[in-house]
Amino acid sequence: MLKTSHRQAASSCFQARTAAPPRHALWRSSSAQQQLRAVQCSAAEMLVGVGSSVPETYLTNHDLERLVETSDEWIVTRTGIRKRHVLGKGETLAQHGITSAKRALEMAGIAAEDVDLVLFATSSPDDVFGSACQAAIGARHAVAFDLTAACSGFVVALVTAAQYIRAGTFRTVLVVGGDALSRFVDWRDRGTCILFGDGCGAVVVTANPDSEAQGAILGMEMGSDGEGHKHLHCTYAGGGLKPLGDGPTPSSHAAYSNIYMAGQDVFKFAVRTVPAVIDGALAKANLQKDAVDWLVMHQANQRILDAAAQRLGLPADRVVSNLSQYGNTSAASIPLALDEAVRGGRIQKGDKIAMAGFGAGLTWAGAIVRWG
Ligand code: ACO
Repeated sequence: MLKTSHRQAASSCFQARTAAPPRHALWRSSSAQQQLRAVQCSAAEMLVGVGSSVPETYLTNHDLERLVETSDEWIVTRTGIRKRHVLGKGETLAQHGITSAKRALEMAGIAAEDVDLVLFATSSPDDVFGSACQAAIGARHAVAFDLTAACSGFVVALVTAAQYIRAGTFRTVLVVGGDALSRFVDWRDRGTCILFGDGCGAVVVTANPDSEAQGAILGMEMGSDGEGHKHLHCTYAGGGLKPLGDGPTPSSHAAYSNIYMAGQDVFKFAVRTVPAVIDGALAKANLQKDAVDWLVMHQANQRILDAAAQRLGLPADRVVSNLSQYGNTSAASIPLALDEAVRGGRIQKGDKIAMAGFGAGLTWAGAIVRWG
């Protein structure tokens, strides 16, 4: 397999780093271990594995007809969504992050213990202190942290991974995008509850052993607009009684509010921003629109996908769309769509993909990416 030969070739460039540390090194602090594993030379990145996972439980549009005043016809016409998966009782987001990560690593032919960095893009972690899932996948040498940029999170994390590899800091980065926005949905708000679903996707990004190779991220464009925060947010709602001292009242937990979204404002922002982001990424890649083989963008609304595809001049069969089955899974939506397209044999090694994420913040992030 491509992945095995890649690993063998990579080992020459990174020999110093891959040499087994002396036994006593296991007792060093994790930062010392990281130094031992520090990459010796900078390199271009390549994408070598992808995986995804969603909860088994799902809600159809007809299920939602019983909760709010809506209809399957309205939801399909306005969004393209037919069903969305949601975490079941006791199920965690990390479980799906772990499954996605394992599938991506298996495709890459890379062992978890060879991962140097785990980036978990999420706005709805199981733990507000962070849910980067290194422990359970066995990435025992990895630095791991969460990264929050809502629905732009996956592309932001992918670009971040590439920067670490290009700088020569790390060789193999696992990028996981996952969200469980069902946790913050008001199931009485028909403007939002019809949109969101839960799930995770992951990609493995690793240093290219060919020192002459171009990186997989051919061009990127990112930005943010705090002014637009008013259109889409899920804020800390305060609350939670925290009496000082040892009085009789116990502390109670604080809460986050439900998702607020001014749908039309976000829609206009998306339709305006996505084509501009892709144009910007193409310009940085020094490529024309006709170089793009696939559009794999944030799955928020079929009308937004169609508008972006039209602007790029891409026919419908070159646009990866699976939001009818999953809804808007936020940071998971791009790797989830990518995984299906790669495993389904549509996206092939060397294909150029226009990726674009957009969402709360407001944030946006686009990249022209070469697969494999
Ligand atoms: N069922 C039936 N009617 C509805 C529903 C519903 N689920 N929701 C709203 N309506 C009604 C409204 O009340 C309104 O009725 P009115 O005309 O009597 O006032 C009418 O339908 C039209 O409402 P709009 O909000 O104008 O509908 P629109 O066509 O804009 O579609 C939608 C709404 C689907 C939310 C769309 O605006 C959208 O997709 N916005 C972008 C969302 C997005 O991309 N988010 C990405 C980021 S998410 C993140 O970062 C976490």
